[in-house]
Amino acid sequence: MAEQFDAVVIGGGPGGYNAAIRLGQLGLKSACIDSRGRFGGTCLNVGCIPSKALLFASERFEEAKTEFAKIGIRCEVSLDLPGMMKQKDKVVGELTKGVEFLLKKNKSEAIVGTAKILSPGKVEVTGADGSTRILETKNIIIATGSEVMPLPGVTPDETRIVTSTGILALKAVPKRLLVVGAGVIGLELGSVWRRLGAEITVVEFLDRITPGLDNEVGKQFQRILTKQGMKFQLSTKVVGVDAKGPALKVTVEPAAGGAPQVIETDVMLVAIGRRPYTAGLGLVEAGVTLDTKGRVITDTHYKTNVPGIWAIGDCREGPMLAHKAEDEAVACAERIAGRAGHVNYDAIPSVVYTMPEVASVGKTEEELKAAGVAYKIGKFPFTANARAKTIVSTDGFVKILADAATDKVLGVHIIGPEAGNLIAEATLAMEFGASSEDIARTCHAHPTLTEAVRQAAMGVEGWTMQM
Ligand code: FAD
Ligand code: NAI
Repeated sequence: MAEQFDAVVIGGGPGGYNAAIRLGQLGLKSACIDSRGRFGGTCLNVGCIPSKALLFASERFEEAKTEFAKIGIRCEVSLDLPGMMKQKDKVVGELTKGVEFLLKKNKSEAIVGTAKILSPGKVEVTGADGSTRILETKNIIIATGSEVMPLPGVTPDETRIVTSTGILALKAVPKRLLVVGAGVIGLELGSVWRRLGAEITVVEFLDRITPGLDNEVGKQFQRILTKQGMKFQLSTKVVGVDAKGPALKVTVEPAAGGAPQVIETDVMLVAIGRRPYTAGLGLVEAGVTLDTKGRVITDTHYKTNVPGIWAIGDCREGPMLAHKAEDEAVACAERIAGRAGHVNYDAIPSVVYTMPEVASVGKTEEELKAAGVAYKIGKFPFTANARAKTIVSTDGFVKILADAATDKVLGVHIIGPEAGNLIAEATLAMEFGASSEDIARTCHAHPTLTEAVRQAAMGVEGWTMQM
């Protein structure tokens, strides 16, 4: 007889493994299946974690080379790329093992294999050796994540034409790196290799970088990255690559059409977005509906149109972020357990881990304008923040958008040192429905970067004190 579960989770990424953990905490018997061989999904294996390990290490390398002298430290610096990669792999290894430990601790059976939904309540798992196993379950959670969006006509070989996976494991620093797509991956991983010595050219289809970020922040971001040495070719598309010679010859042309131009490069990174991954799952046969982008359609409680089948994370709508997948996992598991799990999509932060970092939560100025919402702005530059001066990192500012009538905080946008940590205060404030005055009248330790958030909040009512 097939084994019986309360829930079978397909996918062991931040969506899947957190769902399994929460199900276990709520006393439900679950299994978590992943085909990769190591748990943690895209995030731990080839995404958030290895990229942040390389961002950290390359930032220290550049700092030691160019910034230490400014604070009176002299040193000779050289790159040990295999050592840097080894450290990255060590972190990934430890964290993926950690997920296995957490699954075990929460009594979720971790199964390595490829899952297919045979019918609602029945999942087949095929192991690497071809053996199969059938699991019977009251609920199925689809948490199969996303995959790289291909660039038409370009086939990655993961050594010269690479995706986000290949760029995390290059064996040598390329002299020239062409990045296609000025989004989060292109700018984070472009930054890594620029710091290690590559010349970076970024080709972007739109007329701006990081679409979706507040415009003013995006412009400042581009200025800073340009100052750091990145070259941008905006409103430009790649139309072909010739990989026959020792250098790649990439043909680009204006997005609106026009004369083509050939850019020679040693490595090309394709980073034009990700798309949901549900191949081979048997969704069509099971009657689960997808939208035109291939995302699994669910209601606000993560239920698909088929009773007993749920979906969370990158494979459904919303930002493709690990913490969004995690929050949906918790809410979905709680719904399965009969509780009232819920995600507040107005308070999901996003961070670009460049130097400086860029972080935001809530609405941008452009979104408020489009929605006809009257708002006030408070802004504060890091040049006027004492801590930023002491750590020699004064690029950027904090911008707070608050409702003109009620003063409720509607959006916070930060470009500057530690922006990714600073955004947590803004996210918490928004989760609690805070006003800008609530932030402005909260005591902030001195000297910290958080004081810039407070001064920006004061600015909403026009009483910024330190400028
Ligand atoms: P995934 O993490 O993709 O996990 C899905 C898992 O399901 C995969 O392991 C897959 O192998 C498995 N699977 C799929 N189909 C089957 C099947 N049929 N049977 C068994 N297993 C299956 N997000 C952030 O928030 N912060 C960051 O800093 C960040 N950095 C990133 C950097 C890079 C380079 C990339 C590529 C992504 C980054 N992301 C980041 C995005 C983040 O990785 C994803 O949003 C997150 O992993 C989504 O989680 P998930 O559980 O929905 O899917
Ligand atoms: P993205 O959506 O962030 O950026 C893709 C960029 O490519 C956009 O600017 C887009 O206009 C451009 N583009 C699209 N087609 C193009 C073409 N043909 N030619 C040139 N440019 C083109 O996608 P990206 O960077 O691939 O990242 C995928 C997702 O992974 C992100 O949306 C994010 O959700 C997640 N991620 C999150 C990170 C974080 O939170 N720090 C880090 C890395 C990834």
